[in-house]
Amino acid sequence: MERTLVLVKPDGVQRGLCGEIIHRLERRGLKLVAMKLMQLDDVTAREHYREHVDRPFFGGLVSFITSGPLVAMVWEADGAVEIVRGTMGTTDPGKAAPGSVRGDLAVNIGRNVVHGSDSVESAEREIRLFFSAEEILTYSRDSDPWIIEP
Ligand code: RTP
Ligand code: MG
Repeated sequence: MERTLVLVKPDGVQRGLCGEIIHRLERRGLKLVAMKLMQLDDVTAREHYREHVDRPFFGGLVSFITSGPLVAMVWEADGAVEIVRGTMGTTDPGKAAPGSVRGDLAVNIGRNVVHGSDSVESAEREIRLFFSAEEILTYSRDSDPWIIEP
């Protein structure tokens, strides 16, 4: 089953939006398989955002993502990466569709509340960076036949 990494970024934690974001992903039908509250160190933050190392916003992005606790989660579904990116909305909340997390809960690109992996390959790399294999649980969900056609 496809997996994706979701972060409630430090702005989301400070604003008390963890429950709202988890609620939206649960209601969508994705399955939560790992979750923890943590504060990123500089090295992990730079590794997580390594594709942006040469961008002018990189320094600010790393200081922001390490500035306070975040909630890291792994969510599972067929097509989880695309589903989560849709639920999150586009990077710039000013352009994000109403109804998406960013379109409903944010106004600024540097404070856009959530992260979701942008491809299956990124998801695999990012999940390895945040979670050990033992922290990712396998369990059955009685509601599955009501969410996914068997
Ligand atoms: P994320 O990785 O955080 O989920 O966001 P994303 O895929 O939608 O966007 P990405 O291109 O990966 O950018 C990572 C984060 O960098 C900040 N950013 N600032 N000032 C700017 O032009 C700019 N561009 C990107 C955003 O906070 C974005 O989430
Ligand atoms: Mg990204």
